Amino acid sequence: MKNKIGLVFLVASLLALITGMFFGLFASLQYIIPDFFKAYIPFSKMRPFHVTTVISWIVLCATGSIYFFISNTEKLKLYSTKLPKVHLLIFLITAIGIYISFLSGKMEGREYLSYSPILTIPILIGWILFGINYFKTIRNQVKNWPVYYWMWGTGIVFMIYHLCEAHFWLIPSFRTHFIKDISVQWKSYGSFVGSWNMLVYGIAIYLMSKIKNDTSIAFGKKTFFFYFLGLTNLMFGWAHHTYVIPMPTWIRYVAYGVSMTEWILLIHIIYSWKQSLGKEKKKEFSLAYRFLISTDIWVFINLILALLFSIPAINFFTHGTHITVAHSMGTTIGINTSILLASIFFIVSKLKLKNPLKLITIKRSIVLYNVTLFLFFVTLLFAGVKRSHWIYFTKDIHFSQMQDSLYLAYIAFFIFGVILVISILVIIIPLLVILLKSVRSKEYLKKKT
Ligand code: HEM
Repeated sequence: MKNKIGLVFLVASLLALITGMFFGLFASLQYIIPDFFKAYIPFSKMRPFHVTTVISWIVLCATGSIYFFISNTEKLKLYSTKLPKVHLLIFLITAIGIYISFLSGKMEGREYLSYSPILTIPILIGWILFGINYFKTIRNQVKNWPVYYWMWGTGIVFMIYHLCEAHFWLIPSFRTHFIKDISVQWKSYGSFVGSWNMLVYGIAIYLMSKIKNDTSIAFGKKTFFFYFLGLTNLMFGWAHHTYVIPMPTWIRYVAYGVSMTEWILLIHIIYSWKQSLGKEKKKEFSLAYRFLISTDIWVFINLILALLFSIPAINFFTHGTHITVAHSMGTTIGINTSILLASIFFIVSKLKLKNPLKLITIKRSIVLYNVTLFLFFVTLLFAGVKRSHWIYFTKDIHFSQMQDSLYLAYIAFFIFGVILVISILVIIIPLLVILLKSVRSKEYLKKKT
């Protein structure tokens, strides 16, 4: 049954993406001019502002896409139409709370969740509301679940658990035991990412199945194998985060094997789908299709990097350098953002309003997005190698001298960042306008969806 709440989530997600990218640009400017805006938001705060906001983009867009698919393309009746509104409201109020927490320096949280831990409570409530609505809606109306329903359900449940797990350090028996504390903390971050990957990869499979109009992708043995591999990865794939901690070697080998196999299988699934897709479908959904192909390329690029730096001897040198940042941004932009933009293009193709931007302009922007992202990624790798060389192979060179030697690399990083942001803005601003107008209009869906 028609429901616009998914579109409202998507509007919020695009606003988060725009804001988050600007925080990223400001943070990169602080590499070049350390005093830039320092009196108001120093790098130690700018970074969490950036990371939290772009993660919100991923989470909000995945949630909005799932709500849209369930109620508009699958035409299921939502168990509750009120719960998603409360869910969104809670998230928006919490976002303000998180920004206040950063601005006022109340950052007792850790790493990626550095805001005041109390704010995790409303976030958890939001996820629980989403979970109740999701399971109550699907369980009552769908008998034989395609793989994406399993993936979304699993993502929601594990997200709730891992958000709690990431705060186990608040319990004294964890906090006072160093190895236990660090192991659980980094495990939870790995699994936290695994949980949103479940939502996002589920969306990728959904899109492939709908674009091709072929349900076999969503019920195939290969896809279910991919789901179980993803689930294993979500539970055990965190080991490369914890190489510094003593643990049995077999855990590392299993984690390494599982995480690499999952990506190889995803490349294979997207590639075989591309090969079997007719020309008409490629044309009909040309923009969603292009973003899914970009995803395939980015999974491949990230796989090579991850294959290398997950080898313990190499990980020793890359840990804590920009190589890790290249991996995080390479995956969250190249893989997650590409799939989510494919999802928005697919959703917009179901709306009455047409994209006012010329097709050729969007296609050129997608090329620009991929090329600059690649240069951005390579610059980070270069900076990472230089820093690692400074840490392990040089003596008597001060940190400031090493930073000075990276000056040109930081300028390149900033310039590629600006072009990347421009290419994304060209693509998403018309989408944002269409979504906003559709939210306000009564008849927003095409007759045949
Ligand atoms: C879709 C857009 C983006 C996403 C999803 C994204 C994601 C991320 C993530 C996940 C991190 C954390 C890295 C880590 O801890 O390993 C990060 C850090 C960072 N990002 Fe982005 N990013 C985006 C765009 C940008 C842009 C356009 C810039 C501008 C040049 C930028 C600059 C930075 C900087 C400076 C850091 C901090 C790196 C450090 O710790 O030294 N990001 N980003």
